[in-house]
Amino acid sequence: MSLMRKALLAGSTNPWLREQATKRAFIRKSVSKFMPGEKIEDALAAATALQPERITTILTRLGENLTNLAEAEEVTEHYLDVLNRVKTAGLDAQISVKPTQLGLDLDAAVCQRNLDRIVDHAERVGNMPVWIDMESSPYVDRTLKLFRTSREKSRGVGLAMQAYLYRTAKDIEDLLPLGPAIRVVKGAYLEPPEVAYPRKSDVDQSFYTLCLRLMADDARKRGALVHIATHDVTLADRLTRFIDANKIPSSAYEFAMLYGIQRGQQQRLAASRRRIRVLISYGEYWFPWYMRRLAERPANVTFVLKNLVGR
Ligand code: FDA
Repeated sequence: MSLMRKALLAGSTNPWLREQATKRAFIRKSVSKFMPGEKIEDALAAATALQPERITTILTRLGENLTNLAEAEEVTEHYLDVLNRVKTAGLDAQISVKPTQLGLDLDAAVCQRNLDRIVDHAERVGNMPVWIDMESSPYVDRTLKLFRTSREKSRGVGLAMQAYLYRTAKDIEDLLPLGPAIRVVKGAYLEPPEVAYPRKSDVDQSFYTLCLRLMADDARKRGALVHIATHDVTLADRLTRFIDANKIPSSAYEFAMLYGIQRGQQQRLAASRRRIRVLISYGEYWFPWYMRRLAERPANVTFVLKNLVGR
């Protein structure tokens, strides 16, 4: 892992930096590259604009690690309202939630109840699955437990799993009997080499292998769905070749990317009739998430610096 990436990921959890960054106009400007705005209305407008291009969406409000359960209740109510708004607007837009936003650090039972309320409502309004983001490695066991408990009650829940973790292959194997909806991602947090592959080539290979496993005959027969969530065009092309050569039905997979990243690839996938979802983030608490986006690509830091100079 490069020094710059390490420094950015370490900085993502620094409260002083967060306070400074959120006050700076040039940083706010560069954030707008990755998010259409801080309000749900901004996200809904962006989703509405993408739909005619055959690009569907996932909406997520930024925020993690709450300090009290009243905030978790507010987040839950917010997502119930988002599900209603999406239905009223006639959009194909799912939602994605972070367990720590629903109270996981404070009370796991309350977090589970909050998640279940959201999943129940999503089922009622016919908007599934509700995606659960995967946060840093100390949360993996608790997040898997949340997912399993919800999944026992409803098929309407999906889970992000990180290819950089050594454990993920086994975790996916354990979940396969459920025929799960899994979003495969490379992984965005600062993890030690004891738990995660440090080399990009190993992470890429793990990503490829996990996607193949989720598209294998036995997984498909059980109803598994894989979200191929990457901006890595080489990797996406490699998977597309596998999909075509093996005649994997389009119901078994979907591509997923982040708003504002690799827009050309998003349009190419949509134009070639692949299913593609773009995850749109919004909300005021964008700093740690933004730092993770910077860490993914050094050129993003250059972009911020250019804004600083040109201000
Ligand atoms: P990689 O980092 O290898 O980059 C490949 C190429 O893509 C780069 O060369 C560049 O061209 C482009 N690119 C990638 N990131 C960019 C950026 N930020 N800005 C501009 N260009 C960029 N992680 C996690 O830990 N838990 C989660 O729940 C999720 N959820 C999630 C949902 C969706 C829909 C996506 C697409 C991603 C996530 N992630 C995530 C983030 C994921 O783990 C990972 O950090 C990023 O997707 C970056 O890795 P890539 O696979 O895109 O490729």
